Amino acid sequence: MAESVNVRYEIDLSVLGPERADRDATVRRLDASDSDALAQLMLDAYVGTIDYQGETLAEAIDEVDDWLGGSPMLAHSYGAVVGGRLVSAVLVMTLDDVPFVAYVMTDPDHKETGLGRAVVEAALSSLRESSHERVVLYITKGNAASERLFATVGAQPTD
Ligand SMILES: CC(C)(COP(=O)(O)OP(=O)(O)OC[C@H]1O[C@@H](n2cnc3c(N)ncnc32)[C@H](O)[C@@H]1OP(=O)(O)O)[C@@H](O)C(=O)NCCC(=O)NCCS
Repeated sequence: MAESVNVRYEIDLSVLGPERADRDATVRRLDASDSDALAQLMLDAYVGTIDYQGETLAEAIDEVDDWLGGSPMLAHSYGAVVGGRLVSAVLVMTLDDVPFVAYVMTDPDHKETGLGRAVVEAALSSLRESSHERVVLYITKGNAASERLFATVGAQPTD
């Protein structure tokens, strides 16, 4: 099987356009009490995608715990809630002192309804308001949903 290729992107927050997402959902900051819901969301969102490698719920719980126990930027990590359920989220952390989008994920029943964009735009606006200048992320080449989402908020591939 071909190795997946991760492409590094940067978003220059100084040229961030206006937010485009409709905010029908409640978009709010995440906190540690969201960990169980985030793990389930992570598993549900990634299953069947190019980035899914057979992870279990236990591994998703570990990934969320690693994020929370590492250097999470909780003030800039957002979730979208529909009907009381967390259905989309972006998890931001610092990597080499720069904001880094570690995960973005939307529940399968809510994909392509603008929620991924809503949480990402909330995070980028929040980072810009806190005087951060750029954001880094990696996308697996061929992850069309993620490539499209981040292209529309100005992500540029870097070397
Ligand atoms: C990537 C992901 C978070 C996008 O979430 P979403 O809520 O469906 O995204 P949105 O509805 O806000 O769509 C954002 C843009 O991407 C486009 N898009 C969404 N899914 C797409 C797909 N499968 N193929 C092509 N474009 C897609 C939308 O049309 C929209 O573009 P537009 O503004 O030009 O109309 C979601 O597909 C997901 O959870 N994927 C699995 C996890 C993952 O791969 N995360 C990214 C790792 S870097």
